[in-house]
Amino acid sequence: MVYYVRFLKTPRIQQQKGSVSITALICITTDLGDSFLAEDADLVVTAAKDSEIVYESQIKWNAYNRELPITLGPLPANLIHKTLSLTIDTWPESQPKSMSEHRLSPWPSIPLVVGATSAPFGPQSAPAAKLVRRTIHAPEAAELQVWEETGNSIARHIWDAGLATVMYLGETLHHMSQRAHAAKRGKAPTACTMPALEKVLSTSRTSLTRVVELGAGCGIVGIGLAQMLANCSVLLTDLPEVEEIITRNIHCTRPGDVSSVRYQNLDWEQPPDDLCSQPIALILVSDCTYNADSLPVLVSCLDRLVRTSPEAIILVSLKRRHDSETVFFDLMRSSGFRSVQDSMEIPSEHGQVDEIEFHCYSRDARV
Ligand SMILES: C[S@@+](CC[C@H](N)C(=O)[O-])C[C@H]1O[C@@H](n2cnc3c(N)ncnc32)[C@H](O)[C@@H]1O
Repeated sequence: MVYYVRFLKTPRIQQQKGSVSITALICITTDLGDSFLAEDADLVVTAAKDSEIVYESQIKWNAYNRELPITLGPLPANLIHKTLSLTIDTWPESQPKSMSEHRLSPWPSIPLVVGATSAPFGPQSAPAAKLVRRTIHAPEAAELQVWEETGNSIARHIWDAGLATVMYLGETLHHMSQRAHAAKRGKAPTACTMPALEKVLSTSRTSLTRVVELGAGCGIVGIGLAQMLANCSVLLTDLPEVEEIITRNIHCTRPGDVSSVRYQNLDWEQPPDDLCSQPIALILVSDCTYNADSLPVLVSCLDRLVRTSPEAIILVSLKRRHDSETVFFDLMRSSGFRSVQDSMEIPSEHGQVDEIEFHCYSRDARV
């Protein structure tokens, strides 16, 4: 399981006896916030004004830490009048051996510890808002910037499956273009695991691909896809509580040429009849199967969407958290959906790995 740097107290500039410093309190925890990183990690802490670094320091997270106070300073006195941001990340050498090395991929893999950049803070002692920005280097997506809240809300931060799905979609697109190059050179095509997904992604080269994401949270998956595809229209949906953070993320998006992203509230219990005026090609569902009580309404919502867009395929991704999640697969099967499956390894503590599953569903045998 991946670990995330979180601010327990967001950074602020402090002035005591003429000495200026930046203070914050962090922890390194899982997406669920249920355990802390139990191995040592070397961290680099960078204070910046716009993109100019004003102070940099190294600190150590120890395996037994539950939280880690940060004090940077003494800093030049004029910084008290500046607006700064604070980034906390691991030294690249302290990340586990890149998993991409195994796969000979040309992009950085998912790190064991995902770094964080604070919202702006200062001047004087005004603390940063309770937000962090994650920078994700996904294949084919340029640099993806996603804001999330510092608190423990389920909806307003990113989840391992969301992170892995962005990588998976990027890798799929990358393999598609590699296969196209190989075909041009007369080489035999390599096998592809999810032909229906590849077909949908490839249609965006020639026509508009309509994508809907359910339970989008901060929007990492749909926004990532909109940055990868030149011609897609992505509708992110979730409960009203995400509207503010997801809107912030939509404003930071740099979608492909003529792609677009928007947001609409959608409760699986009451999906609107007129969600899309045109047929949907792809429905994304990432890390939404953890609550057994909501699985029947989730499946019935998917069923309803596919009735109005019979050609749609559904990409469901998840990290299995408990046995009750199998109910989802049973319900999908009894609703007449067929699927193919793939998986991706993400790093975990002490050199171990975790698995993210991908299930691509359609109403017929196209997957
Ligand atoms: C674990 S989060 C996953 C967020 C995001 N997809 C990701 O992978 O980072 C599950 C999401 O499902 C949403 N959700 C739960 N019940 C819902 C419902 N009845 N209708 C719509 N969204 C719901 C939550 O608000 C939350 O954003």
